[in-house]
Amino acid sequence: MHCFLTGFMGSGKTTIGRILARRLERPFLDLDSEIELRAGLKVREIFAEGGESLFRMLEHDTLSDVAIKPDAVIATGGGTVTVERNVEILARTGVILWLDPPFAVIARRIGGQGKVDRPLFEDERQALELYQARLPAYHRADLRLSVQEQEMPEEVAARAELLLRKGLV
Ligand code: S3P
Repeated sequence: MHCFLTGFMGSGKTTIGRILARRLERPFLDLDSEIELRAGLKVREIFAEGGESLFRMLEHDTLSDVAIKPDAVIATGGGTVTVERNVEILARTGVILWLDPPFAVIARRIGGQGKVDRPLFEDERQALELYQARLPAYHRADLRLSVQEQEMPEEVAARAELLLRKGLV
C-alpha cells in the first residue's frame, strides 16, 4: 500500500511527504516532479504548451506508472483527486491522506513566489472558489489531518504517521 498525500496547493504535501517517508522508511515520490522529469518541462511550461488537458493526461499516465512501483509515500498534485480515473488508482493501490490546513494558511503560503509555479492559482479569490469546488473530492480521502498554522512540518508528519498507523491496523 502506498501512502498518497492529497490536499490543495500549498497544503504541505511535498514537505510533509518527505519527512513522513523518512519516518516510515519508505521512498518518497512527488508526482509533479515525476511529471516534469518525464516531460522534460516544468509544470508551468506544460500548461503553457497544452493547457490543463495536456497536464491532466501526463498526470494520469505518470500516476499509473508510479502506482506500480514499490510502496512509497507519494505527494500528489492538488488536482489529482478531482479526476475519477486517478481516484480509482489511488484507492486501489494505497491509502489517501488529506492534509487540511485552513484556506487562509494556504493563501498566505502561496502568495508571491508560489504562484509563479502554479498556473491554477491566479489570485486569492479564484483560488478560494477552486478550493471550495474541490472540497468534496478531498473529503473522499481515507484519512484527514487538520493542520494548524503554527505547526512545524515535523509535528504534522508525526501526527500523519500516527493517523496512518491507526488507519492501517
Ligand atoms: C495543481 C496543483 C499543482 C500541480 C498543478 C495543478 C492543481 O500541484 O499539480 O499546478 O490542479 O491544484 P501542488 O498541489 O503540489 O501545488
